[in-house]
Amino acid sequence: MSTPRPIDYKARRARALNELGDHALLAMAQPTAQRNSTVEHTYRQESFLHWLTGFEEPEAALLVLPHKPEGERFVLFLRERDPERETWDGRRVGVERAKERFGIDQAFPFHTLWEKLPDLVGTAKGIYFGLGLDEGWDRSFIRFLAQHKGRFGKKTTGAKLPVFDVSLISGRLRLRKDAAEVDRMRAAAAITHAAHLRAMRDTRPGMNERDVHGLLLGEFLKGGAEMEAYGAIVAGGGNACILHYRENNAVLADDTLLLIDAGSQFDYYASDVTRTFPVGKRFTPEQKAVYEVVLHAQKACIAAAVPKATLELVHDTAIEKLTEGLIALGILKGNRDELIQSRAFFKYYPHGTSHWIGMDVHDVGAYYDGGRPQPLDAGMYFSVEPGLYFDPLDEAIPKGFRGVGVRIEDDVLVTAGGNEVITGAIPKEVAELENRN
Ligand code: GLY
Ligand code: MN
Ligand code: MN
Repeated sequence: MSTPRPIDYKARRARALNELGDHALLAMAQPTAQRNSTVEHTYRQESFLHWLTGFEEPEAALLVLPHKPEGERFVLFLRERDPERETWDGRRVGVERAKERFGIDQAFPFHTLWEKLPDLVGTAKGIYFGLGLDEGWDRSFIRFLAQHKGRFGKKTTGAKLPVFDVSLISGRLRLRKDAAEVDRMRAAAAITHAAHLRAMRDTRPGMNERDVHGLLLGEFLKGGAEMEAYGAIVAGGGNACILHYRENNAVLADDTLLLIDAGSQFDYYASDVTRTFPVGKRFTPEQKAVYEVVLHAQKACIAAAVPKATLELVHDTAIEKLTEGLIALGILKGNRDELIQSRAFFKYYPHGTSHWIGMDVHDVGAYYDGGRPQPLDAGMYFSVEPGLYFDPLDEAIPKGFRGVGVRIEDDVLVTAGGNEVITGAIPKEVAELENRN
């Protein structure tokens, strides 16, 4: 794997400045989260703050002030150095080193954020902020709005500062990925490829889903990923019909399928891949028939995902192909268009086909703009993930279909001339998935 091109954070902040106009931005760090007792969840920086700075510590915020003169526009709030805490919890950059290290204009201790904010924001026309990350910060932000109005209301509109959701601006900035980002997306995909191959090769009847999860995690970390991009779904047999199955703790039976939805995070970029294959050596006839319907639908969706098309069109393609397949399987009966109209497929395909992918596995970015679906354009990156799920207890369908759950998911990058399936080399043809070992 070649070294990814460096990220130019200064250029990113210049783009942000341009996009903000006369509005301020307060981008907060991801809060830490307790797991149990004295144990915290592994810390992972909030994506937009990382996108803007590369800064990885908690208790931080970047304030962007486009209406201020150059040299006063980027203010980082961060934890102060604390030798004792650093001995226990790890190194901190600290206020003194932050300006030079991150190329920002000013740095202050995080605990001074709310007190300094009204005067720093001053006569900005509005502010972008992400409510809902932390209730304490939400309350502080509401107090800030009142204080700010008290100090600046008579110099501005007399009203509280208009607030815009931070995802609006981060979505505009992050929707199209540049070359340095694509390098990281490719690296995440390559590691994910190795992990899925390993799981395909080493899975045997009688193993536990957890054993397979272990194989995936091992390949992720060995390959240079920081972690999973999201909690992997390792779902044998009927567990695949639980869309967000998380237990990953059941024995894998011969003659069932294994659905693995797992992707690595490399340098803060996600991959998101699902493969479904027989636990044993071969598909049963019903499993194979369902699998081929989903694979055919997925390929048709990918073919449709070209510049100027939309994710709505991609989803409509999935619905058409899956409905046709359900008719061919004898599970739905009737006229194709009427079955689409009545959403008969929904019982077996109850989720969407695509979401943006980037630093977040479900990345920011507008899906609709002024009521119209976002036209696809070079640099946009998203999942294509049709599936069919047949409840193990559904007596309305023939026995051989019960408990069959299939999803096939790849990550697609729109290019000027069409698209590139960044995860496309991970095996998904029936012949590749049978007799693997
Ligand atoms: N792995 C989450 C998703 O497929 O959207
Ligand atoms: Mn997925
Ligand atoms: Mn997905």
